[in-house]
Formats: sequence, structure tokens, C-alpha cells
Amino acid sequence: MSNEKRSNFSGKIGFVLAAAGSAVGLGNIWRFPYLAAKYGGGIFLLVYIVLAITFGFALMAAEIAIGRKTGLSAIGAFKKLDKRFSFIGYLSALVPMIILPYYSVIGGWVTKYMMMFLSGNINKAATDGFFDAFISQPIEPVIWFLIYIGLTALVVVFGVEKGVEKVSRVMMPVLVVLSVLIAVYGLFMPGAIDGAMYYLMPDFTKFSVKTVLAAMGQLFYSMSLAMGIMITYGSYMKKDVKLESSVKQIELFDTGIAFVAGLMIIPGVYAFSGGTPEALGKGPGLMFVTLPKVFNGMVFGNFVGTAFFIMVLFAALTSSISLMETVVSIVCDKLKIERKVSCLIVFLSAVIIGLPSCLGYGIWQDVKIIGMQFLDFFDFISNSVMMPVVALLISVFVGYIIKPDNIIDEVETEGAVFKKKKLFVIVIKYIAPICIILILISSILDAFNIFTI
Ligand code: TRP
Repeated sequence: MSNEKRSNFSGKIGFVLAAAGSAVGLGNIWRFPYLAAKYGGGIFLLVYIVLAITFGFALMAAEIAIGRKTGLSAIGAFKKLDKRFSFIGYLSALVPMIILPYYSVIGGWVTKYMMMFLSGNINKAATDGFFDAFISQPIEPVIWFLIYIGLTALVVVFGVEKGVEKVSRVMMPVLVVLSVLIAVYGLFMPGAIDGAMYYLMPDFTKFSVKTVLAAMGQLFYSMSLAMGIMITYGSYMKKDVKLESSVKQIELFDTGIAFVAGLMIIPGVYAFSGGTPEALGKGPGLMFVTLPKVFNGMVFGNFVGTAFFIMVLFAALTSSISLMETVVSIVCDKLKIERKVSCLIVFLSAVIIGLPSCLGYGIWQDVKIIGMQFLDFFDFISNSVMMPVVALLISVFVGYIIKPDNIIDEVETEGAVFKKKKLFVIVIKYIAPICIILILISSILDAFNIFTI
């Protein structure tokens, strides 16, 4: 896109809402709670928050500043800053291509649950084993996956993102309020307080490198970092909008929603199945197993549950639309083809790549890649390998090639003060590169079972 054509977000609120709209999605509501439950509860939450205000802050500020400074999206931006490093742009562009397919598989599950609640089948959804039986079927999850990704593609083809965004902007605050109410309600269930303690009180004996890696991957995922998205958003940001406080607001919003989602789901796990490792380590299905039970025991549970899943669906759609949009525009630019054709290519390839993730819990459950089912594998490759690598490259690039001053200047345009300047420099130059390298090495050794920490 040329610079003249680049539209700008109107003011700060517009920017923060747009970036938060992309950031808030299944990552907050589905992924965060299951990871927190699995990786030690309170200790995961603590590590996540520490990482958010150091790593997350520095990386998001750097990405948005790179975008605003160059006025370009990732591939062009790195090229413009230093030709030798344009590969970082390409690498980061690969990440949304891996995420979109399996994101849509989960989106399909959400659609299925929304329809079940809508048609009053809450009892069925709340029975033990329902979810596992559902995802292991050969046909049904595929149909929901196709419906979800088809919906995403339709919005992208017809360019009606703005409409979806408007609806979701109204729904998002309602989703927050509703989640808080559900969380509070859930806390009154017998046994729930133990779950809340597990989630809120850090138990330092549960700390491990894996906790840090999981929290770091989740941070990148949830805030849409290390995949070029925030660079694109930055390129639309006006010069007079305060960059630093925008970053803080997006982070607060994103982390706030994830926090509440954890409070809504983890105490429920304790109430219904106790704090056993099997119950807590349920993985991707956790939200779909626990929440229907919470709703089932609630007055007006059917209504609340339906409203909840509709809103989650919208939050997910805004994210998958922006994921697909990113991939479509890259394919358009690189192959020099029409938008519609590019949409079709992206849609078809996402369907093909998504199918194994969709079938990986059922008929293809015996096919494993380095011991993981397909969905977990794609999740692992993008979140625990590629995003940390991209984040490492960005921090080295900013810290040693273009130098932090370049970013600081951009943050301080039009007389703005960069309050956390020192923190930014230390994180980008030293903490981020060292930590990411250590974590990457240990995670790769761990994935191949070379040695387990
Ligand atoms: N951050 C989104 C979420 O929490 C998921 C996501 C990852 C995303 N990468 C993205 C959304 C790129 C939009 C664009 O669900």
C-alpha cells in the first residue's frame, strides 16, 4: 500500500481500540486459562505479568514504533530500515499463516457450542465426556471448522471488517462485564475457593523453565507480537498519538481480559473435578469442558451461556479476520494477484493445513509429530519456536543494528516523554536476547526429549 493511501486511525482511542481488537481473542479467553491451569496457576500468572510489563512492553513499543517510523508493514519496514534484515519481515509473516488454520479449528468449536446453547442443549454440553466425544468425531468438527473459516473468508472477501469490528466494539465491554459476573458467580460454587487460591497464589516450587516459556509464548500470542501485526498497526498510527501510553493501555486491556477469563474457568475446574493434575492439565479443551458445567448450574444459565459464546465468537472473528487479512495482503503483494484470488488461495490453503489439526483428536490421533497432536504441534511451532526467534531477532535488530535511540526518537515525537526509556533499553539490549536464547535452547531440547527440566 502506498503511503498516500494509508488511512490513519482517528486519534488515540481509535488506535488503542483497533489494536486491542486484534489482540483480544481466543488467546485471552481460551488459551490463557488452560495454560495457567496447566503450568502451576499463580506462578504462571505472576511470570506472565512480569513478562508483560517488561518484555511485552518493550517489544510492543518497538514494533509499533518501527511501523510508525517507516509507514510500512513488516516486510517493507525491515527492508527500509536495513536491507540485510528484510528476512525478519518474511519470517514474521509466516507466523499468522501457521496460526490462522488452527485458530479456525478452535473458532469452529466455539461456533458449535454457541449453536448448542442457542438451541437449548445446555445439559448435553455439560455432560462428562461430551467435549472429547465431539472433537474425536470425523465429520462434525470439520463442518464447524469450515463454517467458521468460511465466515472469516466472507468478511475478508467483501471487505466488511469494519462492520464486524463495530459490533465487536460494543460487545467487548459487555463481554468483560459478563465474564466478571460469571467469575464471581463461579466463586460461590463449593470447592471453587481452592481453585481461586491455586490461580492467585504463586507456588514457587512449581516454577520451571517451562512455565517461563509457556508464559512467553502466550504473551506473544495474546498481544499479537512477533508476527508483524503490531508493525502494521503502527504504520497507521498518527504522529501526535502518544505511543507509550497507548502500549500500556493495550497491555492492560489484554491482560485484564485474560486474567478474568482465568478467574472464570480455573475455580470451575476445582469445583467440578478437583485440583487433580489430569483436570488441570486438560489442555485446549479446558474452556469447553468447564464452562458449560458452570452455566448449567446457573439461573438463566442457558441465556448467559448463549450470550457468552456469541461474544467469544465475535472476539475470535475479529482476530481471525485480521489474521487472514494479513496473510491475504502479503500473498496479494508478493504474487501480484487480485485480492479475490488471493483470498481464495489463502482460504483453501488454510483449510488444507487446518484439517489435520481438526482431525488430530479423532481419526488421526495416532499420528504424532515429536509426540504432539497436530493442533498442539502447530501451536508449539508458532508460539514456542517461531515467535521467540522473531522476538529475538527484533530485539537484536533494535538493540544493536538500528540502535534503541531510533525507537526512542519515534516514541518521543512531538515532544512526548518516554517514561520507561531505561527499562526499554535494558530489556531490548540485554534481558530479552539472553532470556530468549536460554529459553529456546531448553525448549527445543525438551521437545525432543533430550533432557527434561
Ligand atoms: N492475539 C490474538 C488472540 O489473543 C490472536 C492472534 C495471534 C492474532 N496473532 C494474531 C490476532 C494476529 C490478529 C492478528 O486471540
